[in-house]
Parts: sequence; structure tokens; C-alpha cells
Amino acid sequence: MKFKKSDTEAMLELLRWRRDVRHFKSDPLPDEIIEHLMQAIALAPSVGNSRPWRIVRIKSQAIKEKIIANHGEANTQASQKYEDIERDEYQALKLAGLIEAPLQLAIFTDLNPSAGRGLGRQTMPETLTYSTVIAIHQLWLIARTLNIGVGWVSILNAKSLNKTLEVDPSWQLTAYLCIGYPAYDDDTPELHRTGWQENTAKEWLEK
Ligand SMILES: Cc1cc2nc3c(=O)[nH]c(=O)nc-3n(C[C@H](O)[C@H](O)[C@H](O)COP(=O)(O)O)c2cc1C
Repeated sequence: MKFKKSDTEAMLELLRWRRDVRHFKSDPLPDEIIEHLMQAIALAPSVGNSRPWRIVRIKSQAIKEKIIANHGEANTQASQKYEDIERDEYQALKLAGLIEAPLQLAIFTDLNPSAGRGLGRQTMPETLTYSTVIAIHQLWLIARTLNIGVGWVSILNAKSLNKTLEVDPSWQLTAYLCIGYPAYDDDTPELHRTGWQENTAKEWLEK
């Protein structure tokens, strides 16, 4: 397979328009789209080919409500770290689309997978988590090619989420993803647009 210059340009365009989305339409996603998202995960690299991602799709409204409450508590706690105007700015941000997003996935890393037989991770066990993160990013990019938005939610109490979902307590929560049709498109990160944090230009050091 040989790729063309136009593929590079298309890929850069995709990266430019991949955004973290918190504003969703609640229309359900067709199964075909969900299958594409799962294919993107299945194609990810992983240390020792360990494929340590464990995915839970949340369908139950009762469980969703517990997760919304979990996020609400974690977000209130997080806001206490800020003071005065900065706290107001934080509280004005929308940091999750948990109420509207039609597809919600909790993605964990199995920190002791039998697949891969330990290859590649003896000195850097964190490479298991890196593997899951890459798989998530692949899902994020494929979602964008399908005009689907993904929002990564990390403002959660992970221990309590494992309990709510009744998953192995040793699984490490790596991401909670809200997925759906975005309410609007933008090529600028929301945190940049709201003035919370501008995108900075220089990404490397030279020595
Ligand atoms: C590991 C990770 C955790 C994140 N957690 C949250 C979150 O809890 N809430 C949120 O609104 N955005 C979250 N984001 C999205 C970032 O805020 C977003 O990627 C960043 O502001 C840049 O915007 P962009 O993704 O649109 O380029 C997370 C992103 C990553 C990679």
C-alpha cells in the first residue's frame, strides 16, 4: 500500500478538525458507525501485542445517572482548587456531555493481561496504559471521519466508577468517552475559545 500526498493533506485536515466535543445532539448512532469505532480500536498497536483495553458500553439510564453524579462531585471538588474569578471561569466551562451523548464508553486498562506474555513492559509497565490511550486516539480520529464527535471525560472518581460498573477493581480507568453527533463543528479547541487555555505554538526543545 502506497499513500499519496493528498492522503497526508487529508490526514492533517483530520487532525486539524479533531476536537474534544462536549455539546452533542442526542440522536442515536447507527450500529455501522459503532462497528467502525470498534475496528479503529482493534487496529491499535499495543505493547507485546497485549491489547490491554477493556471496554464497557453504558446503556442503562440508572447507571448513567450514577456517572453524572460521580462527575458532578468530582467537578465540584476540582473547582475548589481555584479561587475567585478563576473558580467562576472554571464553573462556567462545560467539561462533559454525559447527559446528551448517545454512546458512552468506559475504557479501562487491564494492568495484568495474559496476552503478550509480559513482552516489552518489564521495565515500563505504564506502556500498557499508553497502548490503551493510542487505541482511544484511533477511535477519536475515525469518529471524526464519520462526522462524529468524541469527548474525553477524566473528571471522575475512578474507584467509584469501577464499583458502579462492577468491573475488576484492578482495571485502571483510562478514559470515559462521550460520543455522538456534535451540536456544531469547530477547528479551535473549546478551552482556547473560552479563554481558559490558549494553544501554545512551540512543542519541542532543541539541545
Ligand atoms: C487525557 C485527557 C483527559 C481529558 N479530560 C477532559 C475532561 O474531563 N473534560 C473535558 O472537557 N475535556 C477533557 N479533555 C479534552 C481536553 O480538554 C482537550 O483535548 C484540550 O482542551 C484540547 O482541545 P482539543 O481536543 O479540541 O484539541 C481531555 C483530554 C485528554 C487527552
